[in-house]
Amino acid sequence: MQENFKKIALFSSFPPAAMKKVNEIFKEKKYSSGTVIFTENSKGDYIYVIIFGLVKIFRSSATASADKTLAILKNGEFFGEMALFDTAGRSASAKAITDIDVIACKRNDFLNLLSDYPQTSLVIISLLTARLREANKQISSLTFQNSLGRLAIILCDLAEKHGVEKDKGVLIDIELTHQDLSEMAGTAREVITKIISTFKKSKCIEFYKKRILITDIEKIKGWIY
Ligand code: CMP
Repeated sequence: MQENFKKIALFSSFPPAAMKKVNEIFKEKKYSSGTVIFTENSKGDYIYVIIFGLVKIFRSSATASADKTLAILKNGEFFGEMALFDTAGRSASAKAITDIDVIACKRNDFLNLLSDYPQTSLVIISLLTARLREANKQISSLTFQNSLGRLAIILCDLAEKHGVEKDKGVLIDIELTHQDLSEMAGTAREVITKIISTFKKSKCIEFYKKRILITDIEKIKGWIY
């Protein structure tokens, strides 16, 4: 198991003694697709690292009539660290969107690990910085782009993070409904349906086994301001 853990970015530069501790304090858990792992504002006692599968991180409107997807995390990525550091409660909800395997660690065990091996904190800072950059990109997109541009950016980002090369282009290897895309773009589902149809007519995307295949990424980028 230690060998598998080494491939995880969070642990990649942990010294062997810290990895030994990681093996002791992280426990395996499984959740089936659709399970809400925790909800926004709840008390946070665990950090999770995804070993297999996909987790959606999202916030709900006050009336819970709409969700905004903040990120779709995949194997190797972690979540649930923020509430451990500031005890202000979960900043967002987390839901398994496929069957998932995770390893989870209790707050005090994780904080003790960081204080026993302070150099490990640098890895976390660098990964959190990357997340802040992503969040800044999302703020710019929501502020400056129209719906076409937002969806174009989302498809390009999904292709980069979850893309698989195919003969005809890049397949985004996640089942995504128009509702899912609308929750990512912060745009009504009906609008997303129209944009998808525009992208299909211009021959830059196709559907393949309920997944989006990007056949002309340069054309998609042409919709971004
Ligand atoms: P926490 O606040 O404990 O619970 C929700 C988790 O979602 C949070 O920790 C982070 O791990 C994760 N998270 C929150 N915002 C984002 C974001 N913008 N991008 C990726 N992950 C996030």
